[in-house]
Amino acid sequence: MGESGSPREKKRILTGDRPTGRLHLGHYVGSLKSRVALQHDYETMLIIADLHMLTTKPNREAIEEISENARGLALDYLAAGVDPAKTGIYLQSAVRETSELNLILEMLVTVNRLNRVPSIKDMARAANFSDEELPFGLLGYPVLQAADILLPRAHLVPVGKDNEAHVEVTREAARRFNQLYGEVFPIPEALLGEVPTLYGTDGQGKMSKSLGNAIYLSDDEKTVAKKVRGMYTDPRRIHADVPGTVEGNPVFQYHDAFNPDRAEVEELKRRYRAGKVGDVEVKDALTRALNHFLAPMRERYRLFRDDPGLVDQVIVEGTEKMRLLAADTMREVRSAMGLAGAFNRLGRAAEKRRKRLEKADSAGAGAVAG
Ligand code: TRP
Repeated sequence: MGESGSPREKKRILTGDRPTGRLHLGHYVGSLKSRVALQHDYETMLIIADLHMLTTKPNREAIEEISENARGLALDYLAAGVDPAKTGIYLQSAVRETSELNLILEMLVTVNRLNRVPSIKDMARAANFSDEELPFGLLGYPVLQAADILLPRAHLVPVGKDNEAHVEVTREAARRFNQLYGEVFPIPEALLGEVPTLYGTDGQGKMSKSLGNAIYLSDDEKTVAKKVRGMYTDPRRIHADVPGTVEGNPVFQYHDAFNPDRAEVEELKRRYRAGKVGDVEVKDALTRALNHFLAPMRERYRLFRDDPGLVDQVIVEGTEKMRLLAADTMREVRSAMGLAGAFNRLGRAAEKRRKRLEKADSAGAGAVAG
């Protein structure tokens, strides 16, 4: 499909995050887990989307923090099991073709369509923008994301639920491009995680950095224990002998997502519903499960921290890999659109003139000499 004769064995994944904070359990079940699992079957590229960060944070301080935050994000990927030998991690702003493809795709998506993407208003609200203050670039957030996804001609995009609409915009833009100029892009599919929305520890909404209700992949054992101890459970359970509700209870949602001991989880649920177990016991079991789950990540954090510059090297190499892919795609894009032809025609005419003058010149020189 639009690969211009170069068959690829593996299909490609493109996904990633803005470098605005560390990754938490919600990111893990939302998409990180599938990214790690699928890296063996897909050629995977992970984007550190610093240009997307600029849509709400264009200030200098935020820009100065990009390298440190990019390092933290890549470190989280690597600790979670991303294998740098299989997966490229790259910095979006260092791949200029992103901006070029973004501009081309901007012609293929209507303002009306973007006005119907709910996450844009959510992001504007979170950034405290009034309607009048909505930046053009934030309206174009999904188009820029489409450029990211289409640049490596990705087939699959493992993302959280909040990004589903952006992948839909990407599919529409890819279809429109192919229809206008020929089959260049595969139509990518979103892949949602098994737990699209993990509750925060406060049980009030989804886990998110800005709500302060997150357990981070990089949290140490004591921090995890403390956060779990403070978790929201069934508020009607003032005593251990009051029957509790398991459904919608974040403690049990985490047990389901992270505790591999299914028998223990079922037993705890049974006793919880019957009013035969205290919150403390349920939470202690969760702390054990989470710390067990995070143990191999902590080991990898240590390995990477002990080798300063290694994470940076991974990002640099991933960026170089992405630059090659991007240049290849943009050659195809320009050729399919006929943009390359436009400049070539001008170039040929200019060249003809140069040759004509050269000839006239040497003819003139010959005349003088003769
Ligand atoms: N929008 C993603 C986020 O919420 C980040 C992102 C940018 C992305 N470009 C992407 C995700 C391409 C998947 C594919 O942070």
